[in-house]
Amino acid sequence: MTDYELLRQQTREMIAADCWFVSALSNVSALLADTLPELNWVGFYLLRGGRLVVGPFQGKPACVHIPVGKGVCGSSLERDEALNVPDVHAFPGHIACDSASRSELVIPLHADGKPLAVLDMDSPVLNRFGAEDEAGLKEIARVIEQEISWGIMESDRVES
Ligand code: SME
Repeated sequence: MTDYELLRQQTREMIAADCWFVSALSNVSALLADTLPELNWVGFYLLRGGRLVVGPFQGKPACVHIPVGKGVCGSSLERDEALNVPDVHAFPGHIACDSASRSELVIPLHADGKPLAVLDMDSPVLNRFGAEDEAGLKEIARVIEQEISWGIMESDRVES
């Protein structure tokens, strides 16, 4: 069984290293992949240019763009609610990035009260995410959205 309290502390400490949001999300996706059993993909999609774009993740290469309202990720962002899908084949419009995925949990992340990203976890096991996992991972999502400075990449461009 996953110790979600410990995972929450580790997530907070990892982000508190005052790092750029890409570095923070990369390390958090690695931490979640290393800690949570039975996952084949875990990572982030970020709202950019009016659609979701894949961000830091662990797993097989994934689809780059997801329109808002499409798939489990786009639906979660549009509805601004977590979606726990016990059988992805039964979810209308599910986008199959990895054919091994059988169940999926997607949790929206917010900045200034507005959804701007999702945390996406896929499992090769049907009904992988129980009520305790959903509650624990929602709290971890709250830590991520509170701790991260959602900087804009352009501000870090090297001036010539
Ligand atoms: N299954 C997702 C697409 C992203 S992959 O799982 C990495 C969806 O339906 O939105």
